[in-house]
Amino acid sequence: MENTHWWNRAVVYQIYPKSFQDTNHDGVGDLRGIIDRLDYIKKLGVDVIWLNPIYESPQVDNGYDISNYEAINPTLGNMDDFQELIDGIHERGMKLVMDLVVNHTSDQHNWFKESRKGKDNPYRDYYIWRDGKDGKEPNNWGSYFSGAAWKYDDESGQYYLHLFAPEQPDLNWENPQVRHSVYDMMNWWAAKGVDGFRMDVINLISKPAGLPDAKKSADEKYANVEPLVSNGHRIHEFLQEMNRNVMSKHKMITVGETPGATPEDAEKYAGLDNKELNMVFQFEHMGLDSNPNPALGKWDDRKTSLKDLRANLTKWQEKLYGKAWNSLYWNNHDQPRVVSRFGNDETEDYRVKSAKMLATMTHMMQGTPYIYEGEEIGMTNAYFPKLEDYVDLESINAYHQLVDDQHLLDGATMMKYIAIHSRDNARTPMQWDDSEYAGFSDHQPWEKVNPNYKQINVKKALADKNSIFYYYQKLIELRHTMPVITNGKYALVTGNEDDDQVFAYTRQNDDTTLLVILNYTAETVSRHYDVPSTATLLISNYEDDQHDTIRPYEAKVYQF
Ligand code: GLC
Ligand code: CA
Repeated sequence: MENTHWWNRAVVYQIYPKSFQDTNHDGVGDLRGIIDRLDYIKKLGVDVIWLNPIYESPQVDNGYDISNYEAINPTLGNMDDFQELIDGIHERGMKLVMDLVVNHTSDQHNWFKESRKGKDNPYRDYYIWRDGKDGKEPNNWGSYFSGAAWKYDDESGQYYLHLFAPEQPDLNWENPQVRHSVYDMMNWWAAKGVDGFRMDVINLISKPAGLPDAKKSADEKYANVEPLVSNGHRIHEFLQEMNRNVMSKHKMITVGETPGATPEDAEKYAGLDNKELNMVFQFEHMGLDSNPNPALGKWDDRKTSLKDLRANLTKWQEKLYGKAWNSLYWNNHDQPRVVSRFGNDETEDYRVKSAKMLATMTHMMQGTPYIYEGEEIGMTNAYFPKLEDYVDLESINAYHQLVDDQHLLDGATMMKYIAIHSRDNARTPMQWDDSEYAGFSDHQPWEKVNPNYKQINVKKALADKNSIFYYYQKLIELRHTMPVITNGKYALVTGNEDDDQVFAYTRQNDDTTLLVILNYTAETVSRHYDVPSTATLLISNYEDDQHDTIRPYEAKVYQF
């Protein structure tokens, strides 16, 4: 497969603006803070910056509840700051991807304020309104943030649908006016120089006709809507229409967040000759450590086994090869920190080694890698002990639903699960140095700083040539310079399928082979792989090579 597009060789850096850098002493990150740190991001070597939502928003879900798509949240800055930011990004040869949140708006958006006024309002049909059934909700759908997905509106006497919080009413994509309002808004941002969009839960926008009940297990109070609602019957029609109206008119990079998408779905969304999106974020590898009881969802404390992880990553590498384009990620603002989840943050040595090993695992694969702020210095989960330490509505609502309401878990167990899986783990302030509040702010931050900021911070990472930062920098450089990383064919090393400890795969094109060997455990193991005598060691997280002896979390890549 050819690297026909620049983004096939690109690496993306994700910024959670609220947690990146505060400059005006209010404890909340802002656009000027990002501007101040552009040289740091450039030093890492990435090509694209993706910003989580920076639009006007009441912040019920940290900006994923937008009240005005064409205004900047004043806490973060203003349009002049935005212009300076985008210019600064472009001057440094990078591109800017914005978050596009159009499955829903905030309930404070003008469209919803109008819609709520009554059945005859011209905006009524912008949202999904239904009469109740037998004095209850129109169907059994549950919200991603606990409770029912419907809220009764006294003012206008009907229920409206909200797959997320009640303050995030779902837009009605069946209405062509909704769709064209969205396309206009996207074109408006493109005219400002935005280079692309990361599309929030984009595969949930086409709801099933008739809004039927979803399958529900015994313990679930409301049904998990994802299997029924994701990849809906009109989704490809909508995305092709969006592509014609927006993407085809600009040089853009697009990535769709697509929970519940299989490789077959990914081929439709992001096929190589696609008329929809450039790539997807799929979630299968993020679900391998979920609770087997669907009522408990992601709340569990199991670790993903190497066998499950390898089988899943291999499936995606093989099925998409020559057909579609994937993204490669371990982390984002909704996921726990990779080194705590898949690696080992118990000792400093293991933290550094396992962070590099996991980075090698994905950065040597085919796809576009995404690095989430702080991942490049090996930031860990915060493991906050008390519910009061958490800010995110998902964790707090889940605690009340599963512990207080349904009694499915005791409080201590749920707190253990929250410490592992809460989205707050990703949202603690960026750790820049060892001063108070980690150099993020000189004011008490909106979300607590991870107590380990004195050991783990950017200042330390930049001063240490063996740091995780420089390892990521090298991985990025290799992707830019070695075509085999973007176009080589992936294969598991024969016999590796059942290895519980070591993951070994190759990438191969016409002139180069890479052999990637990764120890997923804290044990020293012995393995023999056929490495030609002409092979050179391309990158490794140890100082020397002990050949068949593979040390804790060792990662090495041979080239021949
Ligand atoms: C996506 C976002 C998440 C948000 C949700 C609702 O999953 O990544 O942060 O809460 O959509 O917009
Ligand atoms: Ca600020």
